[in-house]
Amino acid sequence: MDAFQFYTDKKEPVGLGKEVEMMGKIWCVFFSPSGTTEKVMERIATNLSGSYDSGVKVWDLLRTPERQPDVIRPDDVLVIGIPVFSGRVPTPCLTQIKSLQGSHTPAIAVAVYGNRDYDDALLELQDLLEQQGFCTIGAAAFVAQHSIFTKVAAGRPDAADFEKIDQFSALCAERLKARQDTWKPIQIKGNRPYREILSVPIKPSANTTRCTTCGVCVRICPVHAIDSANPRKTDRSLCISCTACMTACPQNARSFPHLMLSVASKGFEKKCAQRREPEWFL
Ligand SMILES: Cc1cc2nc3c(=O)[nH]c(=O)nc-3n(C[C@H](O)[C@H](O)[C@H](O)COP(=O)(O)O)c2cc1C
Repeated sequence: MDAFQFYTDKKEPVGLGKEVEMMGKIWCVFFSPSGTTEKVMERIATNLSGSYDSGVKVWDLLRTPERQPDVIRPDDVLVIGIPVFSGRVPTPCLTQIKSLQGSHTPAIAVAVYGNRDYDDALLELQDLLEQQGFCTIGAAAFVAQHSIFTKVAAGRPDAADFEKIDQFSALCAERLKARQDTWKPIQIKGNRPYREILSVPIKPSANTTRCTTCGVCVRICPVHAIDSANPRKTDRSLCISCTACMTACPQNARSFPHLMLSVASKGFEKKCAQRREPEWFL
């Protein structure tokens, strides 16, 4: 059962032969508060489909949280990416991931992390997918700029990362092209029980001069921590510090408290200074 072409640009399929017929659809599902996971996922989905705009069904779990994809068919492919939060899959995505249903449907699992560690996040994502009837044929952890400590892995994913992302996409395309009965459960790094989720104590707040109370942050917050009647007020007990509100704010009015961040940054930047490289499991 031949399936997927691999494209290195948007026109010509490379490596697996032009004669190979596309089988099903590519589903690209991601949660990406500060945008780096989306970049990685868009590249993988484009590599596999040839055209992100016309060849891929996208579900952005943050911006269109309610949108359920149509039925994912066994001959489709799910490409799913999450950022690593506290070494785990971010909690706001759990219900949405559990709403996806496969039937021995191939899935490619991706964790994007800020150069500290991805701990148990990729394994947890694989477990969630297998529970929902997907068969994880490839999984990878890629590095991106840390969304809280932005000097860590600044500017990543960079050109070298994208080269690795393309290599990984090509290897996944080879696996998808192989017969289904050769797909075996893959062994992914991580531990069960998973690491305990630790809440980040630094929470973003609004600069009252810049904030126009437009409500963009209220609508994007995945845990509804920002008061719709007064968007300058954030419920710290709900906030998970995901940075979605900071990224979305058109006035650049939301930020982490400068002093707290600079104190916490010092040790963290030192600890995470050494460049980590992408890893994958096939
Ligand atoms: C609340 C929170 C917790 C995080 N925990 C980790 C972590 O455990 N390990 C790590 O390397 N990076 C961690 N990061 C960094 C993100 O995984 C990384 O910046 C990722 O690229 C963010 O993805 P996004 O741009 O799609 O939001 C964390 C970021 C946030 C906001």
